[in-house]
Amino acid sequence: MFGTVGQMTSSNDRTILVTGGAGYIGSHTAVALLERGFDVVIADNFCNSSPLAVDAVSSLSGRPVRLVHVDLTDLDAVNDLFTSCAVDAVIHYAGLKAVGESVEDPLRYYRTNLVSTMNLLETMAAHEVFELVFSSSATVYGDPQFVE
Ligand SMILES: NC(=O)c1ccc[n+]([C@@H]2O[C@H](COP(=O)([O-])OP(=O)(O)OC[C@H]3O[C@@H](n4cnc5c(N)ncnc54)[C@H](O)[C@@H]3O)[C@@H](O)[C@H]2O)c1
Repeated sequence: MFGTVGQMTSSNDRTILVTGGAGYIGSHTAVALLERGFDVVIADNFCNSSPLAVDAVSSLSGRPVRLVHVDLTDLDAVNDLFTSCAVDAVIHYAGLKAVGESVEDPLRYYRTNLVSTMNLLETMAAHEVFELVFSSSATVYGDPQFVE
């Protein structure tokens, strides 16, 4: 599903793909990018967010946002995204990050976090997009006796 929130205008600015852009960090990043003159494409499957967040990004920044409803674990869909949107760089926030849930359902986490990232990297290379910001939480597991 492809759509535009707000009215799209032509721009010579660079276009940044924000994966997971309807999520917590992604939506704030999208507003900051738009305020600095970048064009933004948000790609999200809304498994932990809502398209309403993208409406908010557009109204807060006063700029249009291109929204692509896509599951990044689907390689063909990721390729369609890059074919339909001229992307200059990518900020990758799409992922799952709840520690307890990851222990209960590790395969879902491997599929989402690893397959999505591999699909993205492979497609970026195929479309000659070589700039990536990857965001990852560093969580320490266990119950250590001492924390230094
Ligand atoms: N929240 C933090 O404090 C924090 C700090 C450092 C790093 N991070 C990392 O930043 C990233 C985003 O964190 P967040 O807090 O914004 O999480 P979030 O859950 O609010 O946002 C993640 C977004 O990714 C989307 N998504 C998940 N799987 C997808 C898929 N297969 N295809 C397309 N979209 C998908 C979700 O719908 C959601 O909108 C995570 O990788 C997280 O580890 C978060």
